[in-house]
Amino acid sequence: MAKVIQLGFLGCGNIGGGVYHLLTEMHDEILKREHIDIRIKSALVKSIAEARSDVPRDIMTEHAEDVLRDPDIDIICEFMGGEQPAASFMQKALENGKTVITANKMALALNWHKLQAAAVEHHAGLYYEASVGGVIPVIRSLTVSLNADEIDQVMGIVNGTTNYILTQMSQQGRPYADVLAEAQRLGLAEPNPTADVEGFDAAYKLSILSSIAFHTRVTYEKIHREGITCVSPDDIAFGREMGYTLKLLAIGKRNGDSIEVRVHPTFLPSNHPLARVDGSLNAIYIHGRYCQDIMLQGRGAGDKPTSSAICGDILYAARHLDTPIVPSFANTAETDPAINFTNNWTCRYFVRLDAADTPGVLGSVAGAFSGKSISIASLLQRPSSNGRATIILITHEASEQSVQEAISSLNTDLVKVESMIRVEN
Ligand code: HSE
Repeated sequence: MAKVIQLGFLGCGNIGGGVYHLLTEMHDEILKREHIDIRIKSALVKSIAEARSDVPRDIMTEHAEDVLRDPDIDIICEFMGGEQPAASFMQKALENGKTVITANKMALALNWHKLQAAAVEHHAGLYYEASVGGVIPVIRSLTVSLNADEIDQVMGIVNGTTNYILTQMSQQGRPYADVLAEAQRLGLAEPNPTADVEGFDAAYKLSILSSIAFHTRVTYEKIHREGITCVSPDDIAFGREMGYTLKLLAIGKRNGDSIEVRVHPTFLPSNHPLARVDGSLNAIYIHGRYCQDIMLQGRGAGDKPTSSAICGDILYAARHLDTPIVPSFANTAETDPAINFTNNWTCRYFVRLDAADTPGVLGSVAGAFSGKSISIASLLQRPSSNGRATIILITHEASEQSVQEAISSLNTDLVKVESMIRVEN
């Protein structure tokens, strides 16, 4: 006997339509293989008259309660995006004992403690594989496959829009604003690109990823965030000349009770596996005590890849309605006071300076860095115009604070700091 599972959708745009298509096309195959008969009972839309997807109109409703309160619905899939009302709808669904599946990293990252508490209290499941890295099975890998290990590092390209922009800037030497405008024309960047280009999207994803990886709640507020709007083609070109590729990385590192979480443009050695992930692809590198190095790569967005991950969650949930996966950490509103979230991390630094090309300038720059016990690993100088020069230096490992102090101590009559970019190995 097949088990009948009824779904309700909250939202029915691009992703909802993609999930509808996958489940319709795969229905008989899933029934045969899994003995689960998945049916879509209803879909909440803002306006049935203006609905764009080709999901049948007779399952659409404009009333959230029709989906949230329907006793026949087992699983609710949230496709609304944005924090509210998505988060409060998901909470209501969980309180009604329904399993919830979402790809909404913002609603999840900001409300995870409330949603998880409601899920546990009402014996419901909460699944979010597609919230980080789209189709890349990174949530399941960390919560299940790597759960016994001690993960000390997650480092990811988790935003396809910014990876596309940086790749184009890198390959064509074009400025940020040009590439962004083209990406918007092609529909590859949102009309309002802030969430992507300022690193908010990546920070929500890092909050989820690092909480799971490090078995402790890493709230969004703890994440240091910088976007790509100030990246210049000159930095990318000089970096490349010195053997580095620029990526917007979401970086989480745990060392004992100390955690650093940061999103910012980062130079990687050009032979690093993440450096070769181009265009809108996403990838996540994981390092653990026993598993050592893992790299997962795939499509971070798009209706088909995202639908694949969501439907994987739907099938898993359908098979485990009574035994949902619960993350193995205390999912509290605040972070654990025993954990030290540090902004004074250690890495290498790329610094680009515009300097007067006169005697003593290089000495004064070297003095500012050596004065903070920072060792310079490589140095490049190029004449620019009007008797000035571009100086690029890359440091050995140094603390963030010491580099900021060294930069502040530079003689501004002689040099101007054009950029400072962190370098990872
Ligand atoms: N806007 C995201 C990106 C996709 O560009 O990767 C959804 O998270």
